[in-house]
Amino acid sequence: MTPPPAPENLPAHIAVIMDGNGRWATARGLPRLAGHYRGAENLREMLTACGEWGIRYLTVYAFSTENWRRDRQEVDGLMTLMTDYLQSEIGNLQKNRVRLLAMGDLARLPENARATLSATIDRLQYNDGCALILALSYGGRDEIKRAAQKIAGEVAAGKLTAADLTEATISRNLDLPDVPDPDLLIRTAGEKRLSNFLLWQASYAEWYFTEACFPDFSRAHLAAAIADYQARKRKFGG
Ligand code: IPE
Ligand code: IPE
Ligand code: MG
Repeated sequence: MTPPPAPENLPAHIAVIMDGNGRWATARGLPRLAGHYRGAENLREMLTACGEWGIRYLTVYAFSTENWRRDRQEVDGLMTLMTDYLQSEIGNLQKNRVRLLAMGDLARLPENARATLSATIDRLQYNDGCALILALSYGGRDEIKRAAQKIAGEVAAGKLTAADLTEATISRNLDLPDVPDPDLLIRTAGEKRLSNFLLWQASYAEWYFTEACFPDFSRAHLAAAIADYQARKRKFGG
């Protein structure tokens, strides 16, 4: 059993770039989709740990705006996986008092995926446990672009002047304005890049990289990432 992290200085919000599902599967002679399925199972485990340990927000990068460029078969498989996951996990999520939120260009999702997502969000909306935030069809640049469009609309309507525009105006027009910025940002599977994740929100996140592919990223890995975070001194430029 992995001991829980020390209660002091816990990250309130952990964001994870769940990478390496494909490599995990290929290394075992399995189709890439098998890796995505294992990754989804692993997410259940991570979410349980976050709930037990008092983490308030867990944002997971599940599908990027760039991932639409993958083979049709993989994209369709991922959309089906997401829809099935929400349908089969609902009981578990409810039991663990998980709240669900989503960010990204959700209008691009297939109709049934979008309907399942919004029905699941509604059903879990009064829960008070960890909030699971799915970044789906998500790109940091796309999110900022959509915020800029909303702000331009306000300016055009005479509700705002360019001179009154502040950083807070931008934050307020992002997909989830009430969610605090991530404290700890984890990327699995060895790459050291942002890949268009949370460009605005991650400006002062602490980074943690691990070689483990996401399907192998266990509770013990998560505890190690949190312990590493807890040993750091955040300075915010001061
Ligand atoms: C991450 O795993 C999951 C998604 C991007 C949907 P990948 O599919 O990127 O796996 P690798 O990086 O090819 O191993
Ligand atoms: C980032 O991983 C997106 C998700 C984990 C959903 P990618 O595998 O798509 O990123 P790159 O291509 O390595 O930058
Ligand atoms: Mg990848």
